[in-house]
Amino acid sequence: MILFLDLKKINARYETAFQEKLKLVLDNGWYILGKEVENFEKAFAEYCHTKYCIGVGNGLDSLVLIFKAYIQLGKLQKGDEVIVPANTYIASILAILQADLVPVLVEPKLETYNINPDLIQEKITPKTKAILAVHLYGQLAEMEKINEIAIQNNLLIIEDAAQSHGAVANSNNFIPKHRDQIPNTNDDTNENQQLTINNQQSAKAYSFYPGKNLGCLGDGGAITTNDSELAKALFSLRNYGSEKKYYNKYIGVNSRLDELQAAFLNLKLPNLDVDNEKRRSIAKRYLSGIKNDKIKLPFWDSSNNHVFHLFVIRTQNREGLQEYLTGNNIQTVIHYPVPPHKQKAFPDWNNLSFPITEKIHNEVLSLPISPVLTETEVNFIIEILNQY
Ligand SMILES: Cc1ncc(COP(=O)(O)O)c(C=O)c1O
Repeated sequence: MILFLDLKKINARYETAFQEKLKLVLDNGWYILGKEVENFEKAFAEYCHTKYCIGVGNGLDSLVLIFKAYIQLGKLQKGDEVIVPANTYIASILAILQADLVPVLVEPKLETYNINPDLIQEKITPKTKAILAVHLYGQLAEMEKINEIAIQNNLLIIEDAAQSHGAVANSNNFIPKHRDQIPNTNDDTNENQQLTINNQQSAKAYSFYPGKNLGCLGDGGAITTNDSELAKALFSLRNYGSEKKYYNKYIGVNSRLDELQAAFLNLKLPNLDVDNEKRRSIAKRYLSGIKNDKIKLPFWDSSNNHVFHLFVIRTQNREGLQEYLTGNNIQTVIHYPVPPHKQKAFPDWNNLSFPITEKIHNEVLSLPISPVLTETEVNFIIEILNQY
């Protein structure tokens, strides 16, 4: 069977190094917020070209804590509306709700699967205070347009980068100095002041769930930002709201990036770009090799370097295709079978209509893609798909 994602094989590449790290952490005898977390926060901030990285317990918390920090800083208030794509993983929406904010769902574009910027303005009300942009499946949302809308309407931008570690915009007029494109208007030392187009961008949330492009051996997450005030609040909020041990400034939570997970991430981070490049080369093979009218291939905007967390095709008879592939020993996964507004958890939304979102959820199928998928496997998958 060609596995959808062979996590064992992905992590086997680091087995000896992991064991050495485990011994090191054991020998250090310091298991919470130690040197490994500190080193990872420094390395990941550097990788993202941001000033700060705050390691947290998981990707969901990274989003929740950004919202909570903005509430503590008085930039958001409970009940404020947050624009979010209607077709995202449930965590984006749960995060807004967990911070006592109100999600306002906006349809995506069928081609990119990402939020349609042209539909945002009509959803903005006096209560709208932020946009949560999600870079779904590893492809950046249209940030240039989203930034413009945010600037015009004085909205914060939060980015859900749980699926897009390492994705960078390359277009000529959207190439800021910082890789994460998050200049900070509050910060006097900011060198990117001239890039007004980005000046509302504030924080990016990452997940290191094992299956992500950068994944640990358990749960993990992080926030990157250039905003010193936000970073300070986040460092406290993740640790019971305390700046100094046993002195609590905020009503915080316990959501710290685990020391051992940070140790593993420190070993894997240097390979992230190489792994992403492998994903892109597989995507290129799929895009040029799969020729079947029954299959819609994903759109890849050449002005951004899609990191192909997932390679998501669409087809009318999705279950039929999935069965056919399983019969040919190719494992696939559906991301995701039920749109958020149709989930039982949200009975008040079940009658809402988001036709594009629903179409996407009815038709998508994710093919195997990972840095350890072999050329032979990719060729076999293409051959089988072309025979369908
Ligand atoms: C788009 C998106 N946002 C947020 C999350 C939440 O991350 P985690 O599972 O680490 O809490 C995920 C991952 O599962 C995700 O795919």
